[in-house]
Amino acid sequence: MSGTGPERGALFISLEGIDGSGKSTQARRLAETLRATGRDPVLTREPGGAPGAEDIRRLLVEGDPDRWSPETEILLFMAARRDHLERTIRPALSAGRDVITDRFADSTRVYQGATRGDLRGLVDDIHDRVIGIDPDLTLILDMDPEVALTRGLARRSGEDRFEDFGLAFQHRLRDGFRALAAEYPRRCVLIDAGRNPDAIATDIAALVAQRLA
Ligand code: TMP
Repeated sequence: MSGTGPERGALFISLEGIDGSGKSTQARRLAETLRATGRDPVLTREPGGAPGAEDIRRLLVEGDPDRWSPETEILLFMAARRDHLERTIRPALSAGRDVITDRFADSTRVYQGATRGDLRGLVDDIHDRVIGIDPDLTLILDMDPEVALTRGLARRSGEDRFEDFGLAFQHRLRDGFRALAAEYPRRCVLIDAGRNPDAIATDIAALVAQRLA
């Protein structure tokens, strides 16, 4: 199923990319830009974005890399997403508010579906049955995994489980996100995230303005 449609007035936007690609900064900046034009966006994130989903987040991002099998991970991410959708995303869109989410279903398609065995079919089946919605616009922040990984680990947030899979994994992720952009050319836009944050924010603001026009 496709997104909510800009005709509803509210835009559902996701930011995606490898760890350390600057999504969170750009999501915040986009929310500020929209607020400055008088809109009232909800800024949220995955895994998380609702109290129950934030509880599930801790199970997913902390601990040993081999703590969960890819299949178990898919189920946990989907449970968190369903809660996020019910408690945060759908109520916001119904109230006419834009939603900006730092990651959504494309992260599962790539992290669990394409990089640790071919589980994309399973991800798509569960997505269709329990989620059933994709964003109107997905901004994929694309950059060199070596630079991004240094940034990600430098944060030392205690949420490094996926960064701990290593550089080869981050390269597979980057390839996965680029393939996804080619698969969904109308919804996904690839952004060169190796530039300074101001230039990236300017590009994103222009893309979103275009979708809102
Ligand atoms: P974050 O660092 O962007 O907050 O995301 C936490 C980690 O969870 C990140 O390494 C990506 C990973 N992740 C998945 O593996 N699958 C998913 O579906 C989502 C939403 C995140």
